[in-house]
Amino acid sequence: MRIIRKSDENSFDKAAADIILEQMQSKADSVIALSTGRTTARMHALVCEAFGTAPFDTSNITVLGLDEVTGIPDTNPWACKAKLKREIVDFLAVQESNFLMLPAEVKDLKSTTEYFLNEIELRGGIDLMILGLGENGHIGFNQPGTPFDSSIHLSTMDSGLERRIKEDCGLDDDVKLGGITLGIKEIMAAKKIVLAVKGDSKAEIVSKVVNGAILEQVPASILQRHPDCTLLGDADALKYI
Ligand code: GLP
Repeated sequence: MRIIRKSDENSFDKAAADIILEQMQSKADSVIALSTGRTTARMHALVCEAFGTAPFDTSNITVLGLDEVTGIPDTNPWACKAKLKREIVDFLAVQESNFLMLPAEVKDLKSTTEYFLNEIELRGGIDLMILGLGENGHIGFNQPGTPFDSSIHLSTMDSGLERRIKEDCGLDDDVKLGGITLGIKEIMAAKKIVLAVKGDSKAEIVSKVVNGAILEQVPASILQRHPDCTLLGDADALKYI
């Protein structure tokens, strides 16, 4: 795993945005998988800012969401689809047919999975995937214990995120939230991966992911085996590396 260390949050966000921009500009039909969360919001804003200053052709760019929250509609501001739309997809004028999101409401997981795998394959595979990292080592919604050979699946949500969403949306305690996510198999098939980490709260898990054993209990540890994975972090997140 290659490591890029940035001294602070600003240079981290800028470096991450530059990677996305470079991918979009070097291959007009790029397929880019993006994550939502605290780590990635500002990098998306910087991509939009650069695009606003010097626009380029996005008509053939595909944006694929890594995962989606289940239990709330995809129009809820906390839904990954709604976040990606407002953070980057609308501003870049990505075509609706080129914005692929796993559905928040799954009627038939088998056909949903087939549909997405087929779309990814037809578009030539995922060129670049930006991954965030959960404090428990999850990537997407691949929680600790997810088999490394998993494909698209429904999963649980870690309690911290569930609490934040419920508080913010005023949801009752008995509402059960979860996630649908690309599996470890689809993640490992991406041509290039950037694992983006910032902040002190990620430091311990980052050191396990990079230097620890490759274990299903630490889903992101599998990235040690990916042929083109870069860990991009700020000084706080990388302090034990
Ligand atoms: C969530 C999302 C992930 C995201 C991760 C990190 O659970 N499902 O896609 O990468 O948590 O989020 P944050 O950047 O807010 O720490």
